[in-house]
Amino acid sequence: MRAIAVAHPNVALIKYWGKRARAGNLPATGSLSLVMGGLATETRVQFDPGRRGDHVLLDGREDADTSARVTACLDQLRQEAGVSYGALVESHNDFPTGAGLASSASGFAALVTAAAGALGLRLAPQRLVEIARLGSGSAPRSLLGGVVLLTNRQDTTVCEQVAAPADWPLEIVVAVTTSGPKATSSREGMAQSEQTSPFYDDWVTTHATDLDAGLGAVRAREFEALAEIAEHNCLKMHAVMMTTRPPLLYWTPATLACLHRIRELRSAGVPVFFTIDAGPQVKAICLPGAAGDVAAALGAVPGVLRILRSPLGEGARLRGHAD
Ligand code: DP6
Repeated sequence: MRAIAVAHPNVALIKYWGKRARAGNLPATGSLSLVMGGLATETRVQFDPGRRGDHVLLDGREDADTSARVTACLDQLRQEAGVSYGALVESHNDFPTGAGLASSASGFAALVTAAAGALGLRLAPQRLVEIARLGSGSAPRSLLGGVVLLTNRQDTTVCEQVAAPADWPLEIVVAVTTSGPKATSSREGMAQSEQTSPFYDDWVTTHATDLDAGLGAVRAREFEALAEIAEHNCLKMHAVMMTTRPPLLYWTPATLACLHRIRELRSAGVPVFFTIDAGPQVKAICLPGAAGDVAAALGAVPGVLRILRSPLGEGARLRGHAD
């Protein structure tokens, strides 16, 4: 009744920010993301008939909000398996947790994969998407590899792989500008944006056009077109965040300096563009061959603490049942 799974975080090129329903954690919009194979979460789940309740350790620490979300996912899986056992869940990230590197996406993708494995469930992939989404709206995208599209259906969301890692071997360079967890979680921040940003409704109504453009650019492997729409969509999301009350200002001076450096590099012919999620880290998306120069340039920006490099990665998978 135990299993270990590995999953990678993903970075959205066309973003999810806001929900159409709290129940079921349904996103207001679709999204398009890249799975970052160079960063990983490993999660071990052990169900125990004698255990009451779940015990969740994230990098060795307990966190009430994370534990509640884990239990919500595990309850669905327990219902599928017809058991009521509590679980011990131990999850480790090899990258900064809760700082805009999508640790919740990889965490919940690994959790549902490990827990379904531990319970011996053979669920339809769509059911895992629905359960992972309860943990984090971005988590279903880490169940698959490469470039992943998440779209809304009537009362659910569906995920599909648009390109496998080998189809378009983009590289991601992450400029880490702080190492602590962020002050406002995505979930809280989205709820505040929905209620207070004067730009929120426009963000939602203009989103389908961005998603179509991003998807078209990936399918045609048009890097320049993808760069233009991804940067636009990122800045539009941050405009919503900044105009939320109280403001969600995730950037540091180094974040902004990296954006300028990336724009300079692209003007000079280096195939790279930026994106930023709900945190101060900058992700530079590069065509094959450009990541070395981009890593060197961003590493020299004052305030950048660390550079991580990542190829595209595979979806969540079991590491085999521990004995
Ligand atoms: C800015 O998936 O963390 O990274 O569903 O409330 O857990 P919850 O939010 P989460 O939000 C991700 C927001 C984002 C953009 C994105 O990944 O699409």
